[in-house]
Amino acid sequence: MIRPLLIQPHEVKGIVGMADAIEAVRLGFREWGENSQINAPRRRIHIPTGVRVSVHQGGVPASGATGLMTHCEWVKPLSDHQEYPRLNHPVIVLYDAKEGELKAIIIGEITCSELPNNIAVTGLRTAATSALGTDLLARRDAERVGLFGSSGQARNHLVALARIRKIKQVKVYSRSAENRRKFAEEMEPVLNLQVQPVSRPEDAVRGVDMILTATNSSVPVFDGRWLEQGVHVTSIVGSNIGLVQGGFAKAKRR
Ligand SMILES: NC(=O)c1ccc[n+]([C@@H]2O[C@H](COP(=O)([O-])OP(=O)(O)OC[C@H]3O[C@@H](n4cnc5c(N)ncnc54)[C@H](OP(=O)(O)O)[C@@H]3O)[C@@H](O)[C@H]2O)c1
Repeated sequence: MIRPLLIQPHEVKGIVGMADAIEAVRLGFREWGENSQINAPRRRIHIPTGVRVSVHQGGVPASGATGLMTHCEWVKPLSDHQEYPRLNHPVIVLYDAKEGELKAIIIGEITCSELPNNIAVTGLRTAATSALGTDLLARRDAERVGLFGSSGQARNHLVALARIRKIKQVKVYSRSAENRRKFAEEMEPVLNLQVQPVSRPEDAVRGVDMILTATNSSVPVFDGRWLEQGVHVTSIVGSNIGLVQGGFAKAKRR
């Protein structure tokens, strides 16, 4: 008799270190590069209430796994930013890659051991993917980070960046002085490095080697003319093209 595991949200809190998550993503991309059929682009539907359902399908044969992940949010696109009034549990349906046996149904946002209670939509895989891209593209000696945003994604991303480079300095900007101060206070002990809240976007761009924008803004958060030579920039702004095509949002996020 087949007995797939049913894993509950509290069981996936803090179960993987960020460094391992990055290596898992690296393996997935490597295998996808060798065979385009083992992965498929994300599919997303929107219904007029603002409820959005996303499905991500893929397999990593080398790790013995294939299947899909689905997540559903209530999204509110506003003129200059996007809000998520309600986040719901994602579900992963996991099959073994050898014979396709159903192994597990995992309910809940998997979080990293460094920040077990930090919840953001697909927070772990987003940060691990950004870090992998940064690892391959940023200068080897990059050590100063400029961060935009001080919420769930920014927290995960800072942990992930610290796993791929020896970070010596972090500057964080978000519009609320209280939010950026709290971010610095919380993240310093997690990473054992100094995090400096800055009060102007420009200060987070100048004098850094890597910039990461993890905000819910739908418009640019800094002026590209401030960028210095050789700086690596990652933006995680999600596409809202489906919302525009469905008539739920007026303009594309930029
Ligand atoms: N690419 C992907 O695969 C992917 C996956 C999941 C999520 N995302 C994106 O990640 C975004 C952030 O997620 P989250 O959970 O961290 O969002 P969140 O909880 O809604 O927080 C938004 C953050 O953005 C900051 N912010 C807004 N405007 C800003 C500006 N002009 N300059 C600097 N900071 C600004 C806010 O701080 P203040 O209020 O203090 O300014 C806050 O810290 C989401 O909106 C989503 O689009 C992308």
